[in-house]
Amino acid sequence: MPKVVILGQKEFDVRPGTNLLKLIQEHRYDDQLPATCGGQGQCSTCAVRVLKGGGEPNQNEREVLGEEQLAKGWRLSCQINVTQDIEVEVPGYEVAEAIQIEPQLVRDVLAYAVEKIPLSQLPSSQKITAQRLKDLSHRVEVLLEGGGDPHDVEALYAIFSYIAKDHTAQKIPTKFELTDEKIKKILEAFERRLPAEEEEIITYPYFLYVAFTILFLLTAGLGIYAVSRDAPLEEPATPSFTPNPEKAPWYFVGIQELLAISPNIGPLTSVAIGGVIAPALFILLLMAIPYIEPYLEFWRKDKTKPVGRRLRDRPVTTALFVFLVGAVITLIIIGQYFRGPQWEWVIPWQ
Ligand code: FES
Repeated sequence: MPKVVILGQKEFDVRPGTNLLKLIQEHRYDDQLPATCGGQGQCSTCAVRVLKGGGEPNQNEREVLGEEQLAKGWRLSCQINVTQDIEVEVPGYEVAEAIQIEPQLVRDVLAYAVEKIPLSQLPSSQKITAQRLKDLSHRVEVLLEGGGDPHDVEALYAIFSYIAKDHTAQKIPTKFELTDEKIKKILEAFERRLPAEEEEIITYPYFLYVAFTILFLLTAGLGIYAVSRDAPLEEPATPSFTPNPEKAPWYFVGIQELLAISPNIGPLTSVAIGGVIAPALFILLLMAIPYIEPYLEFWRKDKTKPVGRRLRDRPVTTALFVFLVGAVITLIIIGQYFRGPQWEWVIPWQ
């Protein structure tokens, strides 16, 4: 049986073909692996570093991770079915092994911080409040096991840094040993799990520049068009004269066309069918598509997996949507241009 080794620490003998993501999730080393796309190989949130084994990356991995990440050993765990010995590093798990630290010690430090540390002065990119620290103390185990939100790690890092700088370790009421040396080690371990620094790019000047340019051009264009053309008004309406044909505005003319082509079925008149039932069914069908999509995409081998988000993963849904919207546009074009007096067919260019 192939062997899965997590960072040289834990070993599992598994059945050939076992999915690596499922294995990791079963053994609860998954806090860093949210697997957002449900194992479709599209989100990269299940990435692990493969140190040995793992076979060749598949097309999804090549597309999602790119050659550079693959060269560094990153792989999508959901795409790996274990057939040979494999050694992997699950992000964050190494920290669990690295920190020999008791959760209660961290809770004691947090309780001390709430009381004694001026939280507003902490060097952190986020707001650290007493309430936040109290909440955080419920998640300490997860964080020490290598999971959890990196921003929580950042808050812990800020507090331990403050204590390290202030040399107040000995003042903290705790039954655990807390030396400057230990704090240094804890900080080193946390440091590796801080959230990646995001490069801040101020977008609004560029965005506003584009938005205002488009707004200006649009307003100027409409102004010029409005001045150069007469408004398409018809003769004043008279109660004694009904134009033939009487067409609805363009956005309703599709429904008018639907009324005209709908048959009478039993007690249901063409007006009821074309004006109420068909449009209502149409809207309900559009609304239902996200829910019935797993059944629409009947061709998939593994129906337990959610439907992917790429076009090629959802051809039936895409075709249905295009058909429905195309039908509406077609009805509008017919009603607007191809109907004449008595709603008879006309050829507009003749
Ligand atoms: S779960 Fe999304 S890529 Fe693996």
